[in-house]
Amino acid sequence: MARTKLAAGNWKMNKTPAEAAALMKELAQKAGNAANDVLVCPPFVCLDAVLEAAKGTKIMVGAQNMYFEDKGAFTGEVAPGMLREMGVTHVIIGHSERREYFGETDETVNKKVLKAIEYGLCPVICCGETLAQRQDGITIEWIRMQIKKAMKDVTADQAKALVIAYEPIWAIGTGMTATNEQANEVCAAIRVLIVELYGADVANEIRILYGGSVNAGNSKDLFACSDIDGGLVGGASLKADDFTVIANS
Ligand code: PGA
Repeated sequence: MARTKLAAGNWKMNKTPAEAAALMKELAQKAGNAANDVLVCPPFVCLDAVLEAAKGTKIMVGAQNMYFEDKGAFTGEVAPGMLREMGVTHVIIGHSERREYFGETDETVNKKVLKAIEYGLCPVICCGETLAQRQDGITIEWIRMQIKKAMKDVTADQAKALVIAYEPIWAIGTGMTATNEQANEVCAAIRVLIVELYGADVANEIRILYGGSVNAGNSKDLFACSDIDGGLVGGASLKADDFTVIANS
């Protein structure tokens, strides 16, 4: 079975609710019937407006983070059940910015992955190496470790439906895209790991995205690579025309 490509937009800390609604309305018109599966992940406070504007289109809506407890005294956090009730279907977990600025660890990533699954949310698990790690030649080893820890106690059935995003940290927001070969090599290595952990069936179904300066000019070639099943897109997802090109790549 061929895997459907997924174009996922990570809006990061951009757009007020009114701005988000306007962008989503434009996207709904332009990318509402795109060839690829399409996901947008706005800030929490914009989810309501974006979900409303996405109605009747094929565009799915995700969150950029969540907490790993059901509810309780965790000031400032958002629980998976809250997201689920709104109609959110996906949640980005372990983005490198969260790991770098907000103390996210492989352990919290794993807890969030398991909790998201428990609530029927599809985790988009992020991994990626620094430039120093790449130069030291330990990229694959590092990524394997991150994914193994993120997916601890995830069953084969659950793993099938997951999304993994390989995002080299040196390529995020820098305009320095990994070459097609570099991106595909790591995505293929992740798939080999999934074969080892869960078998070939799961590895054939799980979607592995590339992220890091994906844009309207490079998405077609990146998505044509054997092991790249789409992209997690930051900057270019904030422009409806650019993201529409990516959604059809
Ligand atoms: P970028 O961000 O496309 O702006 O490089 C990608 C990401 O961080 O998900």
